[in-house]
Amino acid sequence: MSQQTKAVVEESPALPPAPAPARLTLDGKEHELPVIVGSEGEVGLDISQLRARSGAITFDPGYGNTGACESAITFIDGEAGILRYRGYPIEEIAGRAQFTEICYLLIYGHLPTAEELKDFENQLTRHTMIHEDMKKFFEGFPSSAHPMAMLSSMVVSLSTYYPKEGRDDDLDLNVIRLLAKGPTIAAASYKKNMGQPVVYPRNDLSYCSNFLHMMFSVPAEPYEVRPVLDRALNLLLILHADHEQNCSTSTVRMVGSSQANLFASISAGISALWGPLHGGANQAVIEMLGRIRDDHGDYKKYVDMAKDKGSGFKLMGFGHRVYKNFDPRAKILKATVDEVLAELGVSDPLLEIAKALEEVALHDEFFVSRKLYPNVDFYSGIIYRAMGIPTNMFTVLFALGRMPGWIAHWREMLHDPRNRINRPRQIYTGPPQRPFVPLAQR
Ligand code: ACO
Repeated sequence: MSQQTKAVVEESPALPPAPAPARLTLDGKEHELPVIVGSEGEVGLDISQLRARSGAITFDPGYGNTGACESAITFIDGEAGILRYRGYPIEEIAGRAQFTEICYLLIYGHLPTAEELKDFENQLTRHTMIHEDMKKFFEGFPSSAHPMAMLSSMVVSLSTYYPKEGRDDDLDLNVIRLLAKGPTIAAASYKKNMGQPVVYPRNDLSYCSNFLHMMFSVPAEPYEVRPVLDRALNLLLILHADHEQNCSTSTVRMVGSSQANLFASISAGISALWGPLHGGANQAVIEMLGRIRDDHGDYKKYVDMAKDKGSGFKLMGFGHRVYKNFDPRAKILKATVDEVLAELGVSDPLLEIAKALEEVALHDEFFVSRKLYPNVDFYSGIIYRAMGIPTNMFTVLFALGRMPGWIAHWREMLHDPRNRINRPRQIYTGPPQRPFVPLAQR
């Protein structure tokens, strides 16, 4: 790619020595597959030359066994419930760092010094405004528009305002613009739903407080952000900040591999996140808990339904492709949810249902044998609700948290000399060649 950006500064650990190549026998012929080993001992078979040498491809629907890249950003050990950003355990970061620090860490590869953070935050503060013309887009959306649709559209439309990304300085500036304008766009989407005037950003507030101000202030009454809300949002954004090659991040890399610009790539990631099997699960969890409440709180009935494959019902907020022990983010949130609700003086019947549901599911053979545990989306919605965030904004909050992760992966791909356009193969199962039948003869 022609685009250059500020270099990622990080220490590269020495990688463990690679074992001898693996051997694959196909149709009586042996092929050697080089083995690569990551800094945490993860082993991968390098099949990049497999098709050229053997004519065969690998088959892995859902990519559960496919490593699409090498990455130095986030490490997950799903069996052990480990999540680390650039080597730092999530448990040590949560509650002790600012989200802006974590953005810097993920994107630039090292924790910022006080001076670097000050400069970074200053830049974020100075780029929060969106072009006045962009307000016309909001005017055009129906008031019932889902805020995820508005966020995705508005993010790709940023590329119409900041198209000169090929120049060295523009790319880093576009990273700042995206992080700074994301909350402004998100809050404006909410205001559109509410039929209220857009609230302009305030430069004297922190990243999180400014977002809450833009969400909840109205011209007649500025909104005083309570510190507990700033803290809770900061934690939630940090817990969502990156999760290596998940569906939306892989989408960002997939789109970016064609050399599409940053805004276009991230907009695609936002769309991927929206689905209920991914980030949309936080909205789906609250809807499910509401449904159980309205059904006399009979959560056991829903556990039974989830076990019945024919019902088509799943326990939303349960299960994960990678975590097979516990999701460390869910563990942190479960410990936080009571604290936040108590400090806000909120009691939520949905929390009681969630706890009861979790308790039953965690001891049920169906869930235990399949290693299905609550994921990050299970408790996040309860906190968002207590903060006054409407349900259809939950996934938008997830997107704001995931923004630095998407950006970090996009930049990493940009600097990777081995990056090629992503283009998976397939096993064709359609009809063999047959003659075309003209319309008159059909
Ligand atoms: N409720 C009931 N059964 C489930 C659930 C669930 N939530 N999740 C998985 N299962 C069952 C499957 O039916 C399957 O059973 P089987 O082996 O008898 O066929 C088994 O557990 C394995 O599940 P898969 O669907 O194969 O797992 P996969 O890795 O493909 O999917 C996913 C993971 C999408 C997260 C899935 O667990 C799910 O749909 N969960 C609910 C949605 C959700 O919470 N998504 C958020 C994920 S976290 C995130 O993106 C931020």
